[in-house]
Amino acid sequence: MDSVSPNPSLIGTTLREHVLAGMQAAPGATGEFTSLLNHVSLAVRIINSRVRAAGLAGLLGYTGETNVQGEQVQKLDVYANEVLLNVLTRSGHCGVIASEENDEPIYSNHGGKYVVLFDPLDGSSNIDTNVSIGTIFAVLRRREPTPIVDDALRPGREIVAAGYALYGPSTVFVLSTGHGVHAFTLDPNVGEFFLSMPNIRCPKKGNSYSVNEGNCARWAPEIRKWSEHMKTEDKAGGYPYGHRYVGSLVADAHRTLMKGGIFAYPEDSKSPTGKLRLLYEANPMAYLFEQAGGAATTGKHRILDVQPTNVHQRVPLVLGSKDDVAVYKEFVEGKR
Ligand code: AMP
Ligand code: AHG
Ligand code: MN
Ligand code: MN
Repeated sequence: MDSVSPNPSLIGTTLREHVLAGMQAAPGATGEFTSLLNHVSLAVRIINSRVRAAGLAGLLGYTGETNVQGEQVQKLDVYANEVLLNVLTRSGHCGVIASEENDEPIYSNHGGKYVVLFDPLDGSSNIDTNVSIGTIFAVLRRREPTPIVDDALRPGREIVAAGYALYGPSTVFVLSTGHGVHAFTLDPNVGEFFLSMPNIRCPKKGNSYSVNEGNCARWAPEIRKWSEHMKTEDKAGGYPYGHRYVGSLVADAHRTLMKGGIFAYPEDSKSPTGKLRLLYEANPMAYLFEQAGGAATTGKHRILDVQPTNVHQRVPLVLGSKDDVAVYKEFVEGKR
């Protein structure tokens, strides 16, 4: 009987296999990082199963509480948060866990060498209208002798893995561990993520811009000038750009990562330091965009260089194609 060589096209590469290959390529790896990522994948698949049936499982709507962000909490926010806290705590790999939904980080002295920061359910305002939502996470290695908040308050350039799940027409898991950005699509019948978009590269320039134009009256003049520039005919520059805005960061960021262009949530008179949170929205997205050859800035500074001072601090966030982000920065710097 000759040896059977597997037909590579028969079964795609699973997320589990992709992560295992990463471990085999990491000298001296103990497997904890791999196990942590597999636990994140499990949590996301559990959240996905409820997102898909939220309307039937009585998981739509509000809990009646408000969170540390001052936002009304949705039942699915709470559910997703509890799943992630439960699964990550049981993994034993997390010395520090910080969530958008928890006032304070959770610390564990059982030797977990990683910090996990997450937004359990991103795009909550879209839950009840069946628009795409997601989960965002970032992983860092602990630095302190015992788990304390300083382990979480580190610039995003120290991230060792980041990614998101997008619960859209299909459920996609996008991940980088520092070796490019790869997307996996969930086969709901199998319950596994299969590699669907290896080595995602953000195009150098795009043709759409994504910003909540409803905030324009609150923007600084230079941001209004940028927005006008994106809408003004200039055939040579490829303008006007199309406007796309879902209102779920994960959906707007994923489209921008795949197709290029620019996403911006600038600071404004109502949110003077921006709306999006640095640790578990801006940083993971910035890490992914830079890994895919894109750019991420506050408008003035590289997102990944911002030194956090508070777990829930907000930051202006601009993500996208290198050329489009460069144009945005020229407006902010008054050069245009
Ligand atoms: P570990 O000993 O499993 O905690 O891994 C130590 C370090 O090796 C991690 O912090 C990563 O930087 C790297 N590493 C380990 N496993 C993997 C993997 N599956 N994919 C990518 N990098 C990995
Ligand atoms: P979350 O649901 O986790 O609070 O995040 C919502 C964020 C983000 O997903 C999106 O980019 C932004 O809120 C949209 O804000 P506006 O509705 O003010 O445009
Ligand atoms: Mn969010
Ligand atoms: Mn959220």
